[in-house]
Amino acid sequence: MSLQVVILAAGKGTRMKSNKPKVLHEIAGKPMIEYVIDTARKLDPSNITIVYGFGGDQIRKRIQGTDLSFVCQEEQLGTAHAVKQALPAIDSSDNVLVLYGDTPLVSAETLRNVMDVNSGNGLTVLTADVENPFGLGRIIRSDDGKFLRIAEQKDASPEELEIREINTGICYGSAGIFKNFIEQIGCNNKQNEFYLVDIFSIALHNGVEISTYKTSKDTDMFGINDHRQQADLERLFQKRQAEKLMEQGVTIIDPSRFDLRGTLTCGTDVVIDINVVFEGNVKLGNNVRIGAGCVIRHCEIGDNSVISPYSVLESSKMGKSNTIGPFAHLRPDCETADEVHVGNFVEVKKSVISHGTKAGHLTYIGDSQVGSNVNFGAGTITCNYDGANKHKTVIGDDVFIGSDTQLVAPVEIGKGATIGAGSTITKRVGEKELVITRVPQRHIAGWIRPQKNNK
Ligand code: UD1
Ligand code: CA
Repeated sequence: MSLQVVILAAGKGTRMKSNKPKVLHEIAGKPMIEYVIDTARKLDPSNITIVYGFGGDQIRKRIQGTDLSFVCQEEQLGTAHAVKQALPAIDSSDNVLVLYGDTPLVSAETLRNVMDVNSGNGLTVLTADVENPFGLGRIIRSDDGKFLRIAEQKDASPEELEIREINTGICYGSAGIFKNFIEQIGCNNKQNEFYLVDIFSIALHNGVEISTYKTSKDTDMFGINDHRQQADLERLFQKRQAEKLMEQGVTIIDPSRFDLRGTLTCGTDVVIDINVVFEGNVKLGNNVRIGAGCVIRHCEIGDNSVISPYSVLESSKMGKSNTIGPFAHLRPDCETADEVHVGNFVEVKKSVISHGTKAGHLTYIGDSQVGSNVNFGAGTITCNYDGANKHKTVIGDDVFIGSDTQLVAPVEIGKGATIGAGSTITKRVGEKELVITRVPQRHIAGWIRPQKNNK
């Protein structure tokens, strides 16, 4: 007897009003169905079957894994019809756990509880009490509290609509039971759909035991049908992530303006100001401060570094005691040593910058290898692209570059060299040389500017 997980993901998600299948819409930068798959994996199932349909190509392209099987539901005739597509490949002696691709945050712990409640020869439904049950199936019970059936929003009577206990959609039981009764489900309801929820009342009438497990975790039951629910769950998820980081000692100035789309690892005494977005894998050392409005993707930032507001840092590694920004842009593949300063409106790409080097303002450093204690004047540009190929700039230690200088790559500046402001460097500069290429200043006394013509 092994566990088979079936994830329903064929629906269009009409209420999303999108060409993308609903389950590919994202929570914290990740398609919602991926959360369900990750949770299913924690249960160690023998197989995970994804029932897909609408936008099938997009699903097959985006969702991959050697442990996943895919079954196509050509026409979306309802949740029972969807499960029916998966059953032929499942052995009757196996157990089936049905998950919904649009209920991304159900926890493995809750799913284990659902499976524990099951006696082995019945079906179990995961339910929850909610404040606003609108749109969800209501759990109808007898006076003595026994499960009777589920009434969908569109089919329920006014009294039934008052019920707050809802069906999360998630259910569990022997594949044999699912196979026995799924054929008996009809579509005589307001939506003319084959409702999976009808299997429970049919099985009950045939003497099968129906048990329920009620969860009190708000994230377990959070299904997404429209963009408002998507945004609500996004916020809830972000709040939980922020809370976890704060418990670990991180100062988050306002957890309601915090976004993590990936994983964030922090040292001690990290401070994160408002509206920062972290993406992918980000690692912050001790005493790192991140200013307001920064976007930081796949980066590692060393101890005591300060990232000032509105900086965008991508796939780069920064050393200790760096000062970056405000308004700095580190594009992928940069590496800075300790005590480097990258100031406002400075863009760095695919470059290595050594200890103590400073680029304070309005500079572009691309495809460069920069020594230690170099000073870039404002408006320095490495001209790394000739229109066809990228070339490298190599700058030695202790070089001083005057403002408004172009370094036309490939080019090398020797250690300790000085470049006069306004120079265009096209040839190698030797160690400790001073090079100036600007036109000498001329003085013309008593110069009369051109006058407007009097008509
Ligand atoms: C369903 C339940 C409802 C429950 C709610 C919880 C039924 C009839 N209703 O309603 O009791 O309270 O979920 O969120 O089961 N899908 C398919 N093929 C289909 C139809 C749907 O794969 O033909 C998939 C969808 O992609 C989605 C899931 O099944 O992942 C649920 O479908 P949806 O249409 O959102 O059902 P609800 O109306 O929310
Ligand atoms: Ca739904």
